[in-house]
Amino acid sequence: MQLKLLAVGDVVGVPGVRFLSQHLRSLRKQYEIDFCVVNGENASVVGLADSQAEEILDAGADVITLGNHAFANRRIHDYLDESPYILRPLNYAPQRPGRGWGVYDTKAGPIAVINLIGRCNMNFGPDNPFLQIAPLLDKIDAKMCVIDFHAEATSEKLAMARLLDGRISALWGTHTHIPTADCRVLSGGTGYQTDLGMTGPSEGVLGIRTEQSIANFRGDLTSRYEAAPGPCVLQGAVFTLDGDTGRCLQAEAIEIC
Ligand SMILES: [Fe+2]
Ligand SMILES: [Fe+2]
Repeated sequence: MQLKLLAVGDVVGVPGVRFLSQHLRSLRKQYEIDFCVVNGENASVVGLADSQAEEILDAGADVITLGNHAFANRRIHDYLDESPYILRPLNYAPQRPGRGWGVYDTKAGPIAVINLIGRCNMNFGPDNPFLQIAPLLDKIDAKMCVIDFHAEATSEKLAMARLLDGRISALWGTHTHIPTADCRVLSGGTGYQTDLGMTGPSEGVLGIRTEQSIANFRGDLTSRYEAAPGPCVLQGAVFTLDGDTGRCLQAEAIEIC
C-alpha cells in the first residue's frame, strides 16, 4: 500500500500558524495526504510554546519536528517530554528534554520519523549527525523512515541524503526558509529536497520583519524578532511512499499562497 506524506517547512509566528490552520486540512484533502510532518521551530518566531504545538497538531499535523530554536521558548520544555508527537533534533545532548525520533501508525504500516540537526555554519554543540544516524537506523524495524534534517549548508544536507539513499524513504531539509528547486527521488529510492522553505509571511526576510533583518546586517542594535506583516505562503513537499518496500515513488514540491 502507498502512503502520501506531506512535509511542511518551518512555520513562522502567529501569521504562519494561522495560515497553516486555514489551509492544511484542505491541502491534505487535495493531495490525499495520509501523514503530515510540520516543522514548528519558529511558531513563536524563535522557538514555540506548548499552546502553539497544540495549534499545529489541531491544524492537521501528525508530528512536529524542530531545529536550532527547539528549546528557545521555555514553555515547550515539559511538553517535549510529555508528547510523543513532537520531536527535537536527536543529536542534541541527551539531558535536554524531549526525543529525537518516533514510530507512528499509518494505513500503510508503521513509519519512523527522525529529526536531526546539522553543524555546518551552525552551533557545533550537537553530536555529529553522520555518526549518530547509523546505529539508530539499525534499531528501527519500520519499513518507512523519514528524516527532517535541519541544517544550513546545502552540502551537508545532500551528503546526508547520499549517505542514506536506499536506506530511508525520504529526507528533507529545513532551517533556511528558502525552498530549493531539487525535489526528486534519488537513484537509491529516497525522496529528497534540500530545503522545503517555510510557512509564514512572504514579504519579510525568512518570515521576519524586513527592517529588523536589515538592521541586523547593518550592525545596528537589534530588537526581538517579529513576524513580518502581509501575505503568507505555505511551502513543503509531497512524498509518495511504498509501504511494503519503504521506497519513495514520487516527490513533488508544493506551495500555496
Ligand atoms: Fe526556522
Ligand atoms: Fe532553524
